[in-house]
Amino acid sequence: ASRKLLLLPGDGIGPEAMTEVKKLIAAMNADLNTGFETEEGLVGGCAYDAHGQSISEEDMAKAMAADAVLFGAVGGPKWDSVPYEVRPEAGLLRLRKDMELFANLRPAICYPALAASSSLKPDVVEGLDILILRELTGGVYFGEPKEIIDLGNGQKRGIDTQVYDTFEIERIAGVAFELARTRGNKVCSMEKHNVMKSGVLWKEVVAETHKEKFSDVELTHMLADAGGMQLVRWPKQFDVILTDNLFGDMLSDVAAMLTGSLGMLPSASLGAPDPLTGKRKALYEPVHGSAPDIAGQGVANPIAMIASFAMCLRYSFNMIAEADRLEKAISEVLNDGLRTPDIMSDGMTKIGTAQMGDAIIAK
Ligand code: NAI
Ligand code: MG
Repeated sequence: ASRKLLLLPGDGIGPEAMTEVKKLIAAMNADLNTGFETEEGLVGGCAYDAHGQSISEEDMAKAMAADAVLFGAVGGPKWDSVPYEVRPEAGLLRLRKDMELFANLRPAICYPALAASSSLKPDVVEGLDILILRELTGGVYFGEPKEIIDLGNGQKRGIDTQVYDTFEIERIAGVAFELARTRGNKVCSMEKHNVMKSGVLWKEVVAETHKEKFSDVELTHMLADAGGMQLVRWPKQFDVILTDNLFGDMLSDVAAMLTGSLGMLPSASLGAPDPLTGKRKALYEPVHGSAPDIAGQGVANPIAMIASFAMCLRYSFNMIAEADRLEKAISEVLNDGLRTPDIMSDGMTKIGTAQMGDAIIAK
């Protein structure tokens, strides 16, 4: 089978991190005969500089045709004052929208070697492996009306509207249960049905989807505020957390900080399966941004980008053994004491971006 990847390195440390993934892909093609075919495009500020758009139609078409897109990061002070429609983030939003990437996967994994440097007690996070599944294309960030109206008495009113339709909840719930089957077989759905109608519907539809197709998976429900508390108190009680766009935005950032540096955190965004081929459109990206403060110095941590590629192996190509092996290589390199500056601690060996990539590839 052909395996077509579109690489969009972007700005700042995006290209530095992507370089390590390119080395890894070349090594896999050479040693494991994986047959990845890669193309490269421009997104973000670099695309704006090249042709005045944050992503070109040509690169959009390549993204739509690829089996998976690997995305670095976009943005930086250089483009802070470009027009709103062509700001660097617009390229990423366009990709999410046109590829209909409604399912955002944010794993929170604590590598044993880093448990001691977590902001929580080591026993709370050691061995942590949970997955937050956030609905990405609906809810309050997109619902109408969305406006600020002038009330005429010196007061204004800001309005955002939370909207979820049955099909949107059904499809994200389906992804949650399918993912749970490949992991710990547990889903905890979080909403606020006590105060929100969309929360009432969310809970109902998740329960219905579970009963109809996924009753082998353990399902629990939790109010999202209590969920936030439980996530910090004892995160290991969870396997897959299923939640909406707004709560997912917050809960995934909280979960991220359980495990350490932004430089370690991968993510995946998936679309609906193609009716003919069953393949999902997919984009994989580190959680971090373009880190202008360290760009160009060769010190960025490439692990978030490399772990995003491991997710790509797992979810786009069903290369489970290879994904496991890559994640194990990351863990082993950390066990060996190798650290980029962002995760450096006493007694460890400080290395740069390229050395970290090389060490993981060698493993
Ligand atoms: P950031 O994630 O770029 O950086 C935050 C802090 O974490 C910085 O001190 C940075 O040096 C550090 N950091 C981030 N990734 C790292 C890595 N791989 N290794 C070592 N240290 C790392 O977020 P910030 O500073 O808020 O935004 C910088 C630019 O990135 C802005 O233009 C922002 O709009 C953009 N951005 C883009 C995103 C994307 O492309 N998806 C996401 C977040 C921000
Ligand atoms: Mg966020």
